[in-house]
Amino acid sequence: MSNNTVTTEKTAAGIGPVEGESLYNVDNPAPYIEAPRKRTKKTPRSTRGNFEMAAWLFMRLSGIVLVVLVIGHLLIQLVLDGGVSKIGFAFVAGRWASPFWQVWDLLMLWLAMLHGANGLRTVINDYAERANTRLWLKGLLYTATVFTILLGTLVIFTFDPNIR
Ligand code: HEM
Repeated sequence: MSNNTVTTEKTAAGIGPVEGESLYNVDNPAPYIEAPRKRTKKTPRSTRGNFEMAAWLFMRLSGIVLVVLVIGHLLIQLVLDGGVSKIGFAFVAGRWASPFWQVWDLLMLWLAMLHGANGLRTVINDYAERANTRLWLKGLLYTATVFTILLGTLVIFTFDPNIR
């Protein structure tokens, strides 16, 4: 065995490849690497709170509620009672005359928009590498989200069946 051929047994603390050649041996141990951020008494506490955990939980809970709301919506709009052919101004007016369907649609709008927006926030954070790109994409996303939620909410509550 040549001088630099070392098996795992000979490497310091077993660091290095499992088999074959290793840079390190007992005389030349692998360097000790400090943990990147050791917490000390002076380390400031995180200022981010539990937002990411709340967002994670929100995605699961809103997903469960959305399954019911969306499947119900699709059944009523597209399958039952003659399918799509029945949909028109009168059909919408009839449904929104009931507070039950107003709340149903409102919940679906808010949950789908917040769920979709938070999902896209994750995608942007994961894939946009430059801080400036993330800033602009998220700015656009939040603007579109607020605009759509406000406009949709306004329509549900101010819909006038007697409009000419
Ligand atoms: C219908 C029932 C739905 C269920 C059960 C559901 C469930 C979920 C769950 C659990 C996640 C988190 C995945 C993760 O963190 O890895 C997620 C992500 C996401 N959802 Fe939904 N969702 C639903 C509807 C929607 C709707 C209506 C939209 C769009 C408006 C949407 C857009 C997204 C997006 C963009 C993500 C992020 C994808 C990613 O992180 O890769 N989802 N969904």
